[in-house]
Amino acid sequence: MNTKRLLVDNDGDNEQIYSQAVDLLNDGEVVAFPTETVYGLGAVATDEKAVKKIFQAKGRPSDNPLIVHIGTIEEVSDYIEHISENALELMNVFWPGPLTIVMKAKSGILAPNVTAGLSTVGIRMPDHEVALRLLRKLKKPVAAPSANRSGKPSPTKAQHVEEDLQGKIPLILDGGTTGIGLESTVLDMTVTPPVILRPGGVTKEMLQEVIGEVIQPNKEQQKLDSIPKAPGMKYTHYAPNAPVLLIEKDQHTVSTAIAYLQKDGYKVALLAPINFSKLGSDYFFAFGQEEDKEQMGAKLYEDLRACDKTDATIILATTTSTEGVGAAIMNRLEKAAGGKWFRLSEI
Ligand code: TXA
Ligand code: MG
Repeated sequence: MNTKRLLVDNDGDNEQIYSQAVDLLNDGEVVAFPTETVYGLGAVATDEKAVKKIFQAKGRPSDNPLIVHIGTIEEVSDYIEHISENALELMNVFWPGPLTIVMKAKSGILAPNVTAGLSTVGIRMPDHEVALRLLRKLKKPVAAPSANRSGKPSPTKAQHVEEDLQGKIPLILDGGTTGIGLESTVLDMTVTPPVILRPGGVTKEMLQEVIGEVIQPNKEQQKLDSIPKAPGMKYTHYAPNAPVLLIEKDQHTVSTAIAYLQKDGYKVALLAPINFSKLGSDYFFAFGQEEDKEQMGAKLYEDLRACDKTDATIILATTTSTEGVGAAIMNRLEKAAGGKWFRLSEI
């Protein structure tokens, strides 16, 4: 299959390109498109055969449910049994935006492979001109996971989608670099108090201001849950080819680690704030300015992907605090590293 990548920038009305995308979706095909978080790979969420193509293109395990994207709040009641006042309040405050709300699904409407057999479904309205225009023109719900091969870092540029899915999908709408760079917050509203299944751009603090108590399980609590609530969180994720080690954001620790690893024959790639660039690593990818978590989140996946274009044999990534969006960044970094750290006390 030939994969077309079409630019939908702000110049020109691009109506013809949107029509192509809508026609493909209506014909049971998949289309990649940008959202404010990462690129998604979409199919009509009521079309089981089309949804199957998402799993095939990504190589995604079929027990991992997909998020349903909608273009207007009114549509939610088509797919959801009962919308609680708190859920409605969250939609009014945070949509369009990076918040996925898990609620009990009406049965028999969405394709069963969208929810992977669960009785619940995660819904969100993306805050991106291209995604919203596509959804509102199509007037159907779109199931869309991140548009990467399963296990790889999520795509923040159309080029990343192309690298992963070239030849496997017919169309990529290229809307440039995504803004947030980390996937949406997934909030389970089927339990009281609600539980954050995946931290993201909408933080626990922001949610609590609107609906009161919200639980964000820490790593230990997540491990205690024998059945992961967000099924996707149990798989390897966000992983470049070379192993990743987390490291404290301290120049002395990082330069010692680089020298130690290089002496052992490793080629070291360092992902860290811009002021860490001169510590002697073989490759350096900047997370932006130190203490700027938004920049770090926006660059994380691009930097992890960039390591695959080098001959680095080990990747050091500096960490951040879990305050605010730091919770989402550390969640992704921990997964990319498989929980492994470089610690001076252990050498
Ligand atoms: O920002 C995002 O959320 C992006 C863009 C494209 O919208 N999408 C995305 O989808 O990250 P995906 O499939 O890569 O991640 C969806 C996560 C998975 O961890 C999945 O297990 C969880 O949400 N999830 C989906 N539906 C769920 C449900 N009904 N109950 C619990 N977890 C669910
Ligand atoms: Mg994903």
